Amino acid sequence: MTGGRVRRVNGPLVEVTGLPEVAMSDLVGLGAAGLPGEVVAVDTVSASVQAYESTGGLAVGDPVTPLGRPLSARLGPWLLGGVFDGLLRPLASAPTWLEPDTDQRDTGSQWSWQPAVLEGEEVTPGAVLGTVPDAGGLDYRVLVPPGVRGEVRWVAPAGRVTARDPVVDVAGVAVGVGTEWPVRRPRPVARRTPVAEPLLTGQRVLDALFPVARGSSAAVPGGFGTGKTMLLQQVAKWCTADVIVYVGCGERGNEMADVLDDLSRLVDPRSGRPLAGRTVIIANTSNMPMMAREASIYTGVTVAEHFRDMGHHAVVIADSTSRWAEALREFASRSGALPAEEGYPAGLPSALAAFYERAGRYVTLGGAEASVTIIGAVSPPGGDTTEPVTAHTERFVRGLWSLDRALAYARHYPAVGWTGSFARDAEGLAVWYARNGDPGWGPRRARMVSLLAEADRLGDLAELVGTASLPGRERVVLLGGRLLREAVLQQSAVDPDDAHSTAGKTTALVDTVLAVVDACTAAVDRGVIATEIEEVDFSPVLRAARETPPDGADGVLARRDQVLRTLAGLA
Ligand SMILES: Nc1ncnc2c1ncn2[C@@H]1O[C@H](COP(=O)(O)OP(=O)(O)OP(=O)(O)O)[C@@H](O)[C@H]1O
Ligand SMILES: [Mg+2]
Repeated sequence: MTGGRVRRVNGPLVEVTGLPEVAMSDLVGLGAAGLPGEVVAVDTVSASVQAYESTGGLAVGDPVTPLGRPLSARLGPWLLGGVFDGLLRPLASAPTWLEPDTDQRDTGSQWSWQPAVLEGEEVTPGAVLGTVPDAGGLDYRVLVPPGVRGEVRWVAPAGRVTARDPVVDVAGVAVGVGTEWPVRRPRPVARRTPVAEPLLTGQRVLDALFPVARGSSAAVPGGFGTGKTMLLQQVAKWCTADVIVYVGCGERGNEMADVLDDLSRLVDPRSGRPLAGRTVIIANTSNMPMMAREASIYTGVTVAEHFRDMGHHAVVIADSTSRWAEALREFASRSGALPAEEGYPAGLPSALAAFYERAGRYVTLGGAEASVTIIGAVSPPGGDTTEPVTAHTERFVRGLWSLDRALAYARHYPAVGWTGSFARDAEGLAVWYARNGDPGWGPRRARMVSLLAEADRLGDLAELVGTASLPGRERVVLLGGRLLREAVLQQSAVDPDDAHSTAGKTTALVDTVLAVVDACTAAVDRGVIATEIEEVDFSPVLRAARETPPDGADGVLARRDQVLRTLAGLA
């Protein structure tokens, strides 16, 4: 018998004999159709393979072909604006906007090539060889691959090239506009640098209370229907990143269609082109083969690293990492691995760490400052946040945006709870804001945190004893908490004026509420009774977010002054 043969098939787990030379993580083709599979265990006589597609029809004795390389992603200009499966194969039926000939995206499409080096130049890994000006909404740079250095022997002239054409010869290595990379191995960088600047999301509760830095990581745990997908989609649409990689992992297909639709209609304020042109969508919805989900999050990070290496700030959004962990569990149970917590394999924590640790701020091989930020949703069954995926994720992320069922139930959206969430980047970002013209950012956040906590405490007390029996100053705190929640933290994803807030508008709204609270306290101190203060019309402040444009800081401050005048008039 020559070559490999299928010996046993158990769902996605396939046992193969006759391939003594295969190594761990090698890719193989299963059966005559060549279904992709990855070697996950080897011994002297057989290898276990994780199949990425349905193994229906695969029979004992079917041939198995070793492909001699690990699971790799084909990276190139065709990614921007495209929709792919977990192994980064184009989904032909998905709508695309940049190239009409969808099926041909990574083979036949003509790309424009603009060289940036001359023959005879010496180049090192990560150096820019040229650009592809028509590759979506950002500067697409063709780089010297890791490990390659030396003389540029040949450069293709500026003009149209296909994805398969070499464009530069560096010391005998042909470089094209695209490249390949094994998805489980982080792409090399010169070094890591500490995270510094904020990744603005346009969502006030995040930007003002639970900020995330570029190159950091955050998780969004939340029970069924608490708004995880809505929040992640808002971040995808409005965050200040150059590239968004949206990984839909085991979630509903129609939600992916919504993301696609929204992004193609929204215009990127920076380039004036559709936002879709700087977005890559990896869709492995609940109806698609389960094991490709396992690969999809690594594929997503690899794509982000590809753009990072060009000097861009990339964000990876994964919805939901719980569905990804389910794929791990499903496979572990088939392979007879000893289950650890709740049936998940013992490797769950290290697999989660391997994902989130690829986030970071880096100096690239080419010397550029760039970052990969990772944001993942977690769907704990029954909202139980002590379950393994949520508990381990909390250890590895820098930010936690915990969605609160009570807030969602009260239609307080985004339902990010202020007691269960954290932002380990907040202190560092306060320093960044202080150096960049906003020394008030840290103190403002601290006041919000304490006002919310104090209002929660007094709210519980008021339920027992009645608001009327609280002292005037405490009734102002209760009022302040309500204003902060309703005027600042609540934000409608569907209202075009409110869906995103610039930093200026967010700051103006927070300052407005804090100034109103101060004025109310001053009124109490000069003897105005609390009831009279509570009856003041605060609606100009409460409606300010919705009635001013996304950058409408001036309009917000005008409303503040209007309410402050009323408060000053109370005798
Ligand atoms: N920011 C928001 N503005 C307005 N409505 C919202 C917002 N966030 C969530 N919602 C409402 O909550 C509903 C559920 O949100 P979403 O689908 O994002 O929840 P989920 O946590 O992803 O649910 P699942 O657990 O099913 O994945 C939405 O259909 C919408 O009506
Ligand atoms: Mg969802």
